[in-house]
Order: sequence, then C-alpha cells, then structure tokens
Amino acid sequence: MRGIVTIDGPSASGKSSVARRVAEALGVPYLSSGLLYRAATYLALRAGVDLEDEGGLLALLEARQVRLVPEKEGNWVLADGEDLTPHLHTEAVDRVVSQVARLPGVRAWVNRRLREVPPPFVAEGRDMGRVVFPEAPHKFYLTARPEVRARRRAKERPGDYEGVLRDLLLRDERDRAQSAPAPDALVLDTSDLGLEAVVERILAHLKD
Ligand code: DC
Repeated sequence: MRGIVTIDGPSASGKSSVARRVAEALGVPYLSSGLLYRAATYLALRAGVDLEDEGGLLALLEARQVRLVPEKEGNWVLADGEDLTPHLHTEAVDRVVSQVARLPGVRAWVNRRLREVPPPFVAEGRDMGRVVFPEAPHKFYLTARPEVRARRRAKERPGDYEGVLRDLLLRDERDRAQSAPAPDALVLDTSDLGLEAVVERILAHLKD
C-alpha cells in the first residue's frame, strides 16, 4: 500500500485498536492524532498554562519540540526527548482535552505534525479524512451506540459505568464540531461487531 488510510470516529468507537491492526496487516505505521491533543493538554496542565491562553500554549509546544513517533507497535509522543506517553490516558487529561482540541492554533499545530510524516500510513482521529488528509483514497468512519462505547471504555478506565457513559456523552458533545465524517468515508457501525470483524471489513474494502 502506498497511500493514506484514514479511520475516524468518536471516543471509544474502537478506532485506535482497529487502526493499529489494519496498519499491521498492511505493514505500515499508524498515526494517533488524539495522542498529540493529549500531549498538548498534559504539557499545559503540568506547566500551569491557562487552557484558554492559546498563545501561551503554542509557545510551550514549540519550546518543548513535541513530536509524534509513529511505530508499528505503537505511538509515542516525545518532548525534548522526554517520553510523555505514559501520562496521556489519565482522567485529568480526559477531562479537559476537548477544551484544548477546540483551539484553532492547536489544531493547526497538530495537523502540521501529522502532515510531516511521509506516507504510507493509517491515520486515526476525528477529522483525518475530512480536514487533514482530504486527498486520502481510503476513508473509514467508525461509530457505535454510546452504551456500547461506554462499556468498552469502562473496561480500560477506573470508575463506574454510569459515570463513564456520562463523561463520554459530554465529550461527544464537546467534540461534535470536529467529528463529522468525511462525505466520501465509508461509515461502519461497530456496535455488534468484534475487533476482528471490523478489521476484516476494512481490509476487504481496501482489497477491492
Ligand atoms: O481519540 P482520543 O480520545 O485519544 O482523542 C482525544 C481528544 O482529542 C478527543 O477529546 C478529541 C480530540 N481529537 C480531535 O479533536 N481531533 C482529532 N483528530 C483527534 C482527537
């Protein structure tokens, strides 16, 4: 495969696991764009930068030389060589990442980091097919019922199912503006499909 495959969808739609598996089957790396939004959020929280202060946040990101390392086995985010990855899937980051992801300058910064990567690759996120790589020949958009997504997320995070569902619906609302599917994406509802089945469907489409 020589081009770009985009896999978008709301949180806990399964897109990260699916993107990793599809990339593995194709023998190319995958790019997790959400990880860059998470890294921006984590650095801002740690440095005590006001999350509304876009200029301050962008200066911090440039100063720390943040970069995404997309490997087949996983993605890492480094800042001046420091590995931020273990700090990016915490409740503290989950709670405010949508707020940071709404800032246009931060979105432009993430998009620049992604476009620096030479294809081929599989890119996953919210707006990979619609905004960042509109020229990609293969686009997928994964959805699943909120209850199914909350059940999946509750397995990965501490906390009760009701709380996870509430947070997930809140994040859906906050991320809505940047989460519309590309008009030419194939939309797959994964509510009643296992990981393998979703991966197989995507690979079958790519073969066609
Ligand atoms: O996919 P994720 O849960 O790791 O994404 C973290 C946050 O980043 C999520 O709240 C939405 C935002 N995001 C975005 O706005 N655009 C993307 N392409 C990827 C993630």
